[in-house]
Amino acid sequence: MSRTVYVNGSYLPEESATVSIFDRGFLMADGVYEVTSVLGGKILDFPGHAARLQRSLTELEMASPVTMDELLEIHRELVRLNDLDEGMIYLQVTRGNPGDRDFAFPDPATTPSTLVLFTQSKPGLADNPLAKKGIKVISIEDIRWGRRDIKTVQLLYPSMGKMMAKKAGCDDAWMVEDGFVTEGTSNNVYIVKNGRIITRKLSNEILHGITRAAVLRFAAEAQMEVEERSFTIEEARAADEAFFTSASAFVMPVVEIDGTALGNGTPGPVSARLREIYLDESLKAAI
Ligand code: PDD
Repeated sequence: MSRTVYVNGSYLPEESATVSIFDRGFLMADGVYEVTSVLGGKILDFPGHAARLQRSLTELEMASPVTMDELLEIHRELVRLNDLDEGMIYLQVTRGNPGDRDFAFPDPATTPSTLVLFTQSKPGLADNPLAKKGIKVISIEDIRWGRRDIKTVQLLYPSMGKMMAKKAGCDDAWMVEDGFVTEGTSNNVYIVKNGRIITRKLSNEILHGITRAAVLRFAAEAQMEVEERSFTIEEARAADEAFFTSASAFVMPVVEIDGTALGNGTPGPVSARLREIYLDESLKAAI
C-alpha cells in the first residue's frame, strides 16, 4: 500500500507527489531537514526538532512555510493517515522554485518555500538488535563545510563516509578534523572513560543533536559525570566504551573503532543504561 505524503499543503499518495525540477533543494541543495522518531504512534522530542528547524531556517534567511503549531498538526495527520506505529517522519524545507536556475536567492515574496514530509515505517526501531550487539566504526577525515550546526540536505560526504565504512566491513564512520573527532556521518559521538561521558561541545563544527541534548540532561539527572570537550581517535580507541546518539538510532553502542575493540567488545553499561533511560523518558514525554 502506498504512503500518504505531504507536499505544500496537500496530503497525496506518494506516486502523485511532485516537486519542480527548478526547486533549489534539487539544483543547489538549498534546503534544511529534520528527522523525528515515532514510537507507539507518538512523536518524540517534537519541540526540540521544531526549534532547531526554526534556527536552521533563520540562519539561511529562509521563510518558514507554516507555523510550528501547524507543523505538529501535519506530523500528527501523517501518523494517522499512514497508521504509523514505529518509525520516523522526514521533513524538508527548501528555498522553493524560482522558475529557473540562478545562484542568487529568489525573493521569498514571489518564491514560497517548498515543504515536504513523509513517514518511514520501521517496526522494531526501539528494539533494534544492533543495540545489543553494538556497531563498528572507521575514522575518516571531515571535509564538510563549516556550518554543520545548520541541518542542511548537503549529505553527499556523509553518504560517502557511510559507503567507506561499509566497504571496510563496518557500520559507520567517525569524522576527524584537526586531529579531533567531530561527529558520525549522521549522529553525535561519545566516549566513556572511568565512568565519565566525554563528548565534543557545541559549535558550528557539529550538529546540535536533539537526542544529544536529551541524553546529556538525563545523564546529569542520573548523577552521571559528563565532560564536554574534544577527543582524538587514539583517546577513543583507548576508551572503556563509546556510543552515538541520533533521533533514529537513539543511543547506539560502538564496540570497535578502526579495528580496535573497546572494553570486552560488547556494549558497555553506561551506553546500555543511557539507551534505556532515553527510551523510557522520551516515551513518557512523547506527544
Ligand atoms: N541525523 N550529527 C549529524 C551530522 C546528523 O545528521 C544527526 C542526525 C545528528 C544527531 O541529531 P539528532 O539527535 O537531532 O537526530 C548529529 C538524522 C537522524 C539523519 O540525517 O537521518
